[in-house]
Amino acid sequence: MSVRREFVVFARKAATAPDFPLSDLPGRGGRMDLVARCICNALWVSHNLRRDTRIHIVAYGRPNPPICITFDGRTLKKVSPDERNIASWIKKALGSMMDGERANPGIEVRRMGFQELIRELGAEGRFFYVMHERGKDVEEVEIKEKPVFVLGDHIGLPKKEESFVERFPHEKVSLGNISYLTSQCITIIHYILDRKALKGSW
Ligand SMILES: C[S@@+](CC[C@H](N)C(=O)[O-])C[C@H]1O[C@@H](n2cnc3c(N)ncnc32)[C@H](O)[C@@H]1O
Repeated sequence: MSVRREFVVFARKAATAPDFPLSDLPGRGGRMDLVARCICNALWVSHNLRRDTRIHIVAYGRPNPPICITFDGRTLKKVSPDERNIASWIKKALGSMMDGERANPGIEVRRMGFQELIRELGAEGRFFYVMHERGKDVEEVEIKEKPVFVLGDHIGLPKKEESFVERFPHEKVSLGNISYLTSQCITIIHYILDRKALKGSW
């Protein structure tokens, strides 16, 4: 199965070494709670994984930024959808990267920044949807095949990174004037696409 839905999350504080404690995901983990919730909402439904979805977290926290952590629903195994378990796999993956090993078939950790990732996806001809409260209403936007949704963290997407995405085919999309959590936006996007798929309109 190929990837049909893809998410990129800019995570300015997410830890980039495995030494953060699972008991302090928001603090020493650098909002790793937010990261884990995004991964959960991107990949899980009740008792199942979304096998057509992939999510990239671009981590800019201490001590080793930037690092791109990818969870791929097509091949992911053993991970369960609770925040602590997801964070423990991120810890393992960061540790394995340092040892030149692989943590889990569906988890990849690369030394790569936000712009490099966008360039890579852009080179595949992907269309970007930059999620922003002040974008075009999602109901008026045509969602193309294999969309890439780009989201900010609790502070938002830095203007510099937003401008970079704007060099590629893109649309700035809003879910309304309420500012939602990044993880909530992912659920809403999936819900909209699920409904469209059900009606045969996507
Ligand atoms: C908590 S919000 C960030 C809020 C931040 N104050 C800002 O202005 O960007 C986290 C991310 O979720 C997405 N987001 C939140 N609410 C949204 C909405 N109503 N429409 C589209 N995207 C939204 C955006 O990508 C945002 O960067």
